[in-house]
Amino acid sequence: MTDFPALAPDFTWGVATSAYQIEGAVAEDGRSPSIWDTYSHTPGRIDGNDTGDVACDHYHRWPEDIALMRDLGVDAYRFSVAWPRILPAGGGAVNKAGIDYYDRLVDGLLTAGIRPFVTLYHWDLPQVLQDQGGWPVRETAERFGEYAAVVARALGDRVSDWITLNEPLCSAWIGYLENRMAPGHADLTEAVQASYHLLLGHGLAAAAIRAEAAVPPQVGIVINPSPCEPATDTPEDIAAAVRADGHTNRWWLDPVHGRGFPADMRELYQVELPEQPGDAELIGAPMDFLGLNYYFRMIAANDPEGPIPYARQIEVPGMARTHMGWEVNPDGLEKLLVRVADDYRPAKIYITENGSAYVDTVTPEGAVDDLDRAAYLQSHLAAVDRAAGRGVPMAGYFAWSLLDNFEWAYGYDKRFGLIHVDYETQVRTIKTSGRRYANLIDNHRAATGRGAA
Ligand code: FCB
Repeated sequence: MTDFPALAPDFTWGVATSAYQIEGAVAEDGRSPSIWDTYSHTPGRIDGNDTGDVACDHYHRWPEDIALMRDLGVDAYRFSVAWPRILPAGGGAVNKAGIDYYDRLVDGLLTAGIRPFVTLYHWDLPQVLQDQGGWPVRETAERFGEYAAVVARALGDRVSDWITLNEPLCSAWIGYLENRMAPGHADLTEAVQASYHLLLGHGLAAAAIRAEAAVPPQVGIVINPSPCEPATDTPEDIAAAVRADGHTNRWWLDPVHGRGFPADMRELYQVELPEQPGDAELIGAPMDFLGLNYYFRMIAANDPEGPIPYARQIEVPGMARTHMGWEVNPDGLEKLLVRVADDYRPAKIYITENGSAYVDTVTPEGAVDDLDRAAYLQSHLAAVDRAAGRGVPMAGYFAWSLLDNFEWAYGYDKRFGLIHVDYETQVRTIKTSGRRYANLIDNHRAATGRGAA
């Protein structure tokens, strides 16, 4: 019996990773540095001064990692292509060795019966483009469109599922405004310009994929919205929640659904957008699916003296939290899905990331019995199932993450994997959560007539 009766027989069960977090091999085969190499090598930026230099050594161990995906029985694998491997100068000359690497990976996945979902940008901007201005300048969006065309030409005969950007909110707000991620700036004007050019880059990349891919492509973007609720029912807190929603959700979801950038937020930021004729149509061109990453909800209180958007995140006491300190709230996922489906009517929604960091203990036998992560996974899938039951067009779910990996500014201390990685030995061990996921997938397949994996 399936635990998830509302999920369709062809529901896609996947796992996700990103290039800089797992590949390592940062100086191999012609790869140039990205902003994350620079950032992680800047003392004090990353917990423990960790870097992605080696990470999970997936660049060399991908055949073993594909075998692990087969053990889990997943249908699909969402990974990202490292722009600095493909175009080490940001644009111009294509690095064949970089293309070859992803060629092998895609072929390996297809041979294993696993469908590749390719993300073109998961935060690793070539440093050389940052040196020329980064996302605050229009040329970066143009280079991104060219890079998308190169990758679509190379892999588009076998890959059908494409994601332009992962979480542009993090690139723009956390990277250029909050100074907590690469490139590590704190400037509202830059951040707003970066947000604009990221979404323009999405539009240019989507058009390039459609023009270049040999197999008819399915193209989408990955946004990381959070449901935003007011802390109290005072008009001040209600207005704060509207601002938080604007900053976190509508600023991203409105333009890619053809509605332009929300007027209330433009008013709040007071930064002129670098708009040119034709941009809005590119940014708002219809997509085949919407990817959503969900980790937490937001409860907002008015904070007039605080940073943009003047809404302070309130922590509810007594709620379970992960090792990131993020509240565990599967109902927030259901609410979010229903809201996004009602407001934006996407053709299909994939949860492109969802998962949890917990402190894992490895037994002397090498097992990791991560019951908290398994429970998190199951409760969030149940939320996806409830949303599907309420009519949300749920097409699939990608667990974050296949492997423990380099968790950005938190380094290796925060483990999100369904598979444990011993960073000393690179030994991989499927955790209880990974086994649970495999069971849930098997049961769903059996119950919906697709048979066991
Ligand atoms: C998301 C990122 C992903 C991972 C998870 C925990 O914001 O897209 O790379 O770090 O958070």
